[in-house]
Amino acid sequence: MSAATPPVPPATDRRVSVRVGAISESATLAVDAKAKALKAAGRPVIGFGAGEPDFPTPGYIVDAAVEACRNPKFHRYTPAGGLPELKAAIAAKTLRDSGYEVDASQVLVTNGGKQAIYEAFAAVLDPGDEVIVPAPYWTTYPESIRLAGGVPVEVVADETTGYRVTVEQLEAARTERTKVVLFVSPSNPTGAVYSPAETEAIGRWAVEHGLWVLTDEIYEHLVYGDAVFTSMPQVVPQLREKCIVVNGVAKTYAMTGWRVGWIIGPKDIVKAATNLQSHATSNVNNVAQAAALTAVSGDLDAVAEMRTAFDRRRRTIVRMLNEIDGVVCPTPEGAFYVYPSVKGLLGKEIRGKRPADSVELAALILDEAEVAVVPGEAFGTPGYLRLSYALGDDDLAEGVSRLQKLLGEAQD
Ligand SMILES: Cc1ncc(COP(=O)(O)O)c(C=O)c1O
Repeated sequence: MSAATPPVPPATDRRVSVRVGAISESATLAVDAKAKALKAAGRPVIGFGAGEPDFPTPGYIVDAAVEACRNPKFHRYTPAGGLPELKAAIAAKTLRDSGYEVDASQVLVTNGGKQAIYEAFAAVLDPGDEVIVPAPYWTTYPESIRLAGGVPVEVVADETTGYRVTVEQLEAARTERTKVVLFVSPSNPTGAVYSPAETEAIGRWAVEHGLWVLTDEIYEHLVYGDAVFTSMPQVVPQLREKCIVVNGVAKTYAMTGWRVGWIIGPKDIVKAATNLQSHATSNVNNVAQAAALTAVSGDLDAVAEMRTAFDRRRRTIVRMLNEIDGVVCPTPEGAFYVYPSVKGLLGKEIRGKRPADSVELAALILDEAEVAVVPGEAFGTPGYLRLSYALGDDDLAEGVSRLQKLLGEAQD
């Protein structure tokens, strides 16, 4: 046992297991829950915390679910790994959207992208295996790596490089224990999008060193301006045998509550993850799978409409945030988040308080401006805030105006 490992108390003295006790609450869900509770208590809170589109699920998808409810076939257990017709449709959609050809046997349908990530890490990691995680990172990655016995190794990129890590940085973090590199583009929480050349360079570096890549493609259809989405295994086909793609219907079809995601990977990994799921949760809710089948088999008109609205809000929020002294907000090229640096505000006096870090600043903003934002600490990088711009245009403008007013009062 290393000197840093605290002694484990005898079994009878432990209540929550050490493994699960070490998991922290999802900070993003916590902020969202607090904002919703204040709102329910009648406070005019504006929430920038939620990571979900503010649009309803398209009607034709809901209709498919209603129909599925009436079909007795869907009242029963179905194969743990997903409805065969949905797996086939996901393979077809992957070829259509990413140019990546996979067989339906390489697909596992999961309870959302979150379960996909958890199961993917559980299927490839042994205790002590290291996973390189670019930071700022989405809060769930390190927790699911640790739950699987792995060790997250952070590589930080800041606003000066558009929050994109380089091959040189990744190489500096690689050790003989490195097994996986995590890749997400467009990114939560920064909205960063890697160019095709950058994506290919990282993929080639992974192949060169025999590393696995877990690539999270959940925001594939939310890119703006000249940015393009690139699927790493499509541009680096040599990665196929060591690449796990995570995706889902949540963000593309405004279906966060339906809980349907998937893993695409080599057959042995998909089989192992399916075995795990068969004991953990069995099949994903059949009604939600039927809705997802209609979603992925249909066109992309609904997401095109959302993209137009998000793009408009993205421009507004970036402009308004950059008008605040002490805030530096790069323009994100994807997803629906901005990730401004607020380092210029820390230690300044605002309404009698001097927030020392971004957790304290976010708390002050919620108390004084009734605006909910997520502090950068949740994503491994203090000194920043994450704001989701997946909220109505009027709320967005009102919320950022309140920030301008409050933070404009900052004094030395
Ligand atoms: C980067 C990223 N991956 C995966 C997910 C998981 O989405 P879900 O579990 O809702 O399908 C999210 C949700 O916020 C996300 O931001």
